[in-house]
Amino acid sequence: MIVTTKQLFEHAYGKYALGAYNINNAEQVMGLFRGCIQSEAPFVLQISRGARAYTDKRFLEGMILAADEVFPDSVFAVHLDHGDEETCYDCIESGFYSSVMIDASFYPFEENIAITKRVVERAHANGVSVEAELGQLGGVEEDISVAEDQVHLTEPEQAAEFIERAGCDSLACAIGTSHGAFKFSGSQSLHFEIIEAIQELVPGFPLVMHGSSSVPQEEIERINAAGGGIKGARGVDPKQYLPAAKLGVCKINIDTDGRLVWTRVHREYFRDHPEVFDFRKPGTVFIEEYANFIASRNELLGSVGQLGEVRTALNS
Ligand code: G3H
Ligand code: 13P
Ligand code: ZN
Repeated sequence: MIVTTKQLFEHAYGKYALGAYNINNAEQVMGLFRGCIQSEAPFVLQISRGARAYTDKRFLEGMILAADEVFPDSVFAVHLDHGDEETCYDCIESGFYSSVMIDASFYPFEENIAITKRVVERAHANGVSVEAELGQLGGVEEDISVAEDQVHLTEPEQAAEFIERAGCDSLACAIGTSHGAFKFSGSQSLHFEIIEAIQELVPGFPLVMHGSSSVPQEEIERINAAGGGIKGARGVDPKQYLPAAKLGVCKINIDTDGRLVWTRVHREYFRDHPEVFDFRKPGTVFIEEYANFIASRNELLGSVGQLGEVRTALNS
C-alpha cells in the first residue's frame, strides 16, 4: 500500500525512524520488499533522478506497482530523492509518487524558501508530501559534489523560520554526515544538538537524516579481498539511528550500503565461480543478502514489527 511520508511520520515520530532506501533495479526492489515484509516494517522507497534516468522512469514505476501486488501487506511511501523543481512537478503530476524532496539547499536562503514554497503548493494540491533541505552535506549526490570547505551545518533558528515560511512537511538537516562511502576523515561527529535545538523551536516537526550509510568495514574488506580497491571508506555508527529517531528524526536515508552489498556479492560470486556467466545466480544471492541487510537496518531504526500498528492506524 502506497502512503505519504507524512502519514508514516505521524506514526513514527519520537519512537522510531523509517528506513529510506534507494532503488535502481528489479533485484533491489525484490530485496527491499522482502526485507521489509520479513521484518514487518513500513519503509520509504526512494528514487533519485539518476535512478529515473538509468533505464527509464516508467520501468521503476512498473516494478514498484508489481511489488505492491506481490507483497500486498507492505506499507511504503514512494519518494523522489534530491529533486529539482522540474522533476518534483513531473513526479507530483504522475499520480504515482506520494512524496517528493525538493533540494534547493545550494541556493541562498530566500531562494530556497521561494522554490520550496512553489513545490509545496503544487504537491499539497495533489496530496503529495514534501521534504526540503536546509544546510549543505558533503560528498556527491546526483551531479553535485560538495567539497569539505563548502559544508554548512543547519542553523536551528534558520530552520525554524524556513519550516514556518516554506510550509514543507519535513526537513533534511546537515548535522555532520555526508553522502557516499567516505564520510569522516577524523572521528565521527554527528551534531545531535542541532536536532535538539530545532525540536525546541518547532516541537513535533519531522526531521530527516541524509548520508546515513554505515559503510560496514567487513563489507569493504570483503570487496577488496575479491578484487576491489576501496580505501579509507567510513560511515555512520548505526547504533546512532535510534537515538536520532527518539529526538525527532523520522527518516534515515541509506543508499551507499546497498551498493556495497551488491558489489561484494557480485565480486565474490564471480571470483568463486569463474566459469559462471548466468547473472541470475549472483542476482539470487544478492536479493537474499539485500533482504537480510534491510531487515538488519530496520532493527536498528526501530521500525521492525511496526507494520501491523501502522496498517491499523491508517485504516482507522
Ligand atoms: O544522495 C544521493 C543518493 O545516494 C542517490 O544517488 O544520484 O547516484 O542515484 P544517485
Ligand atoms: P548514503 O550515501 O550515506 O547512503 O546516503 C544516501 C542519501 O542520503 C540519499 O538521499
Ligand atoms: Zn541524500
